[in-house]
Amino acid sequence: MGRPAERQTMGPVMWMGVCAFALCIATTTAEHTAPGRVLARQKRDWQWNFLFLEEEKSDPPPHYVGKLKSTNYRERTKFIIQGEGADKIFWVNGQGDIYANRKLDREEKAVYNLTAYLIDMDTGETVEPEAKFLIQITDLNDNSPQFPKKYAGSIAERSPQGTEVLTVTATDADDPTTANGRIAYKLLNGTDLFDINGQGTITTKVNYLDREKQSSYVIVVHAKDMPGMNTGGSATTAVTIDVTDINDNMASFTKNMFRFTVKEDEKENSEVGVMDVEDKDEVQNKDPSFSFKLQSCRDVFEITRNPRGDAALTLKQRLDYETQVEHRCEVTLQEGSVITPTDNAQAVTTATAIITVLDVDEPPLFTQSAYNFSIREDARINSEVGTVSARDPDKANLKIRYSIDDPNCPVSIHPDTGRMVTTKMLDRELIPVHTCHVTAVETGMQGLKSYATVSLVVVDVNDNAPELINITNIYMCHNEAADTVIRTIGAIDKDDHPQHFSFSLARPSSNFTLIDHKDSTASIKVRQGGFDADDQREYVLEILATDAGKPPLTSTTTVVVSLCRCGPDRNTENCKAAYAQTGVSVHALIAILLCILTILVIVILIVLRKRYQKETMVASGKNSEIHEQLVTYDEEGGGEMDTNGYDVSVLTSARNEGSARPAPGLYAVVKKPPAGRADMAMMIEVKKDEADHDRDGIPYDTLHIYGYEGPESLAGSLSSLDTSSDDSSLDYDFLNDWGPRFKTLAELYGVDGLESDYPY
Ligand SMILES: *[C@@H]1O[C@H](CO)[C@@H](O)[C@H](O)[C@H]1NC(C)=O
Ligand SMILES: *[C@@H]1O[C@H](CO)[C@@H](O)[C@H](O)[C@H]1NC(C)=O
Ligand SMILES: *[C@@H]1O[C@H](CO)[C@@H](O)[C@H](O)[C@H]1NC(C)=O
Ligand SMILES: *[C@@H]1O[C@H](CO)[C@@H](O)[C@H](O)[C@H]1NC(C)=O
Ligand SMILES: *[C@@H]1O[C@H](CO)[C@@H](O)[C@H](O)[C@H]1NC(C)=O
Repeated sequence: MGRPAERQTMGPVMWMGVCAFALCIATTTAEHTAPGRVLARQKRDWQWNFLFLEEEKSDPPPHYVGKLKSTNYRERTKFIIQGEGADKIFWVNGQGDIYANRKLDREEKAVYNLTAYLIDMDTGETVEPEAKFLIQITDLNDNSPQFPKKYAGSIAERSPQGTEVLTVTATDADDPTTANGRIAYKLLNGTDLFDINGQGTITTKVNYLDREKQSSYVIVVHAKDMPGMNTGGSATTAVTIDVTDINDNMASFTKNMFRFTVKEDEKENSEVGVMDVEDKDEVQNKDPSFSFKLQSCRDVFEITRNPRGDAALTLKQRLDYETQVEHRCEVTLQEGSVITPTDNAQAVTTATAIITVLDVDEPPLFTQSAYNFSIREDARINSEVGTVSARDPDKANLKIRYSIDDPNCPVSIHPDTGRMVTTKMLDRELIPVHTCHVTAVETGMQGLKSYATVSLVVVDVNDNAPELINITNIYMCHNEAADTVIRTIGAIDKDDHPQHFSFSLARPSSNFTLIDHKDSTASIKVRQGGFDADDQREYVLEILATDAGKPPLTSTTTVVVSLCRCGPDRNTENCKAAYAQTGVSVHALIAILLCILTILVIVILIVLRKRYQKETMVASGKNSEIHEQLVTYDEEGGGEMDTNGYDVSVLTSARNEGSARPAPGLYAVVKKPPAGRADMAMMIEVKKDEADHDRDGIPYDTLHIYGYEGPESLAGSLSSLDTSSDDSSLDYDFLNDWGPRFKTLAELYGVDGLESDYPY
């Protein structure tokens, strides 16, 4: 039975309620007024006390709600209500009729809780005890269902029938206990594939949804209240349902045959090609695997799945055109994880890859990439080291020529045979291993090259004598006790044999003994003490050291022992003899002494020369002038390039004039000295020395004016000075005026005439 039927009876129910209320009030009044009467019903049943009022009444207020009744009602009594909405929404008249003075909304407030009183208008006292009652606002279908949000769901393709996709829920503000608030769902389209139940849950109706056919559906859901009736509100929403991918398609080669070409010099792991595979599934659901049928293909190639799910062929080892020109490999495709494959039958699961090898002119191939040879360090020049060998891997099999380009390599190679011999003497102690690069060149047009490393290990030969160590600053005391050890010596050796040495005295000594400890050390002992402290002599002993080589080498070393005056505990107070071993040979000393002597002689010569010049200056009376010039030109000369130091134009103009008209020249003729009369060379040497040692003098490059061909030259002097004039009686004092830079020139030209006596 539906609610509307109830609603139709609402009027009578209400009235029954009002009557019951009145009856009850009457009963209690009776009880009150007539105590002692036993009643069947003691308790009041408050079930009745509902008053109903429809929401959203369309006719204008006031709206009649109900009537309060009491048996105690008479003249001069009146009803009062208190509680929710009392006197604001609801009011009661003298007859007990309750009205609402405006229309009410159940969705705002559904129940009003009120209390009724009957009071005596004169005394103001309650005639009846209070009675509680409720005014219930009854629902009208004044709200439509609503979808609170957009819905989207997904379902895997090929899901079984009845798989839940998502649930939609519409809301309705009306009373959910009535049809007004109840919602029924249905699909407006897509009903062949999907279903919706009363709770709004969408399920699949079929098990063959296929992403590859359609990957997304939009279906319209309709929600309506007042189910089963033509009236009522409704809402629709579009629900997007995505179909997600599963691996339900078999992978398949796109062709039965794939052709590839590879150069024979292609390196390992390089790609040969890709065999395309077709698979409708999304890439994450592509799962093909590939394999070769033949082991020979497996040895040479690698087949893997690339990120796109295709078969990628790579090289596992190098190919050789000369051995095999074509490789035929059958490849099988498998995809085990396919779920309910649809097009299994059409899939191409076997394809052939034909790989053609292209010929490439390859460089020579050495038998080894690195060769190790060894040779004794005492091997003579032209000793055989070893032989390297390379061949042309191509069909042409061209001749190979060998060479070594490194000039530091101590071996040479025969260009045809690859035989190597030494070109230098070797020394292990200098370079223990030589590394050379041998080049092999094909004699063909291309001249392809390859290289090999040859390591030449120099084998040690005992060719270094032992050297004593710890033999400097050996001293003994004048009061040395007998058998005192004054030094422990050792030895070293550059050769590559065990560093073991034995020691002995080369010549017996009356003052020392040598004790060989057999552990490569030996001690020098004093035989007898009591030396004369004032003795200036050095004591020497010759020590013979022998190494452990085969054959052994020996060395004899003279060791110097100085004699010291010592205090107690061998404290040296005074060492007479040279403490250190003499480090300089007699020859070197003589050389040094000669050097010193030469320098001394030169210095004396220069000093003498200077003094002589000074005397002549003083005599000429130009002393003050020179002094003045020296002050003026107190600066460093810059050689020929220095054009600021003095006015070059003076020189050049003078020279031009000189060459233009021969007389009167500014320069005197440099008189060619009579042959053999003077030692000009000697003079130049002296001048050069002077220039070298005189810091204040003219820079060396000024000396070119001494260009002198020698007394026997027929060509004569090339100097322009020669042509300037033949007047030799000129005064050259102005040269002095030019400053210190021209001092030497002035001297040469015999300023003051005193020097004209120079043996030119
Ligand atoms: C009505 O209000 C009274 C007091 O105000 C309370 O005791 C009673 O439970 C309420 N009744 C309902 C149905 O809310
Ligand atoms: C259902 O109707 C909507 C709106 O008209 C449309 O976009 C959608 O494609 C339809 N769905 C089906 C499965 O027909
Ligand atoms: C050559 O000798 C070196 C060390 O001296 C060694 O590392 C290398 O392996 C050797 N090569 C050959 C080919 O014997
Ligand atoms: C050098 O000689 C001193 C004195 O005999 C000794 O103490 C020292 O150990 C020696 N040093 C070496 C390196 O043999
Ligand atoms: C040993 O020393 C003495 C002086 O004490 C000296 O006369 C003698 O020549 C020395 N012998 C040698 C071989 O040096």
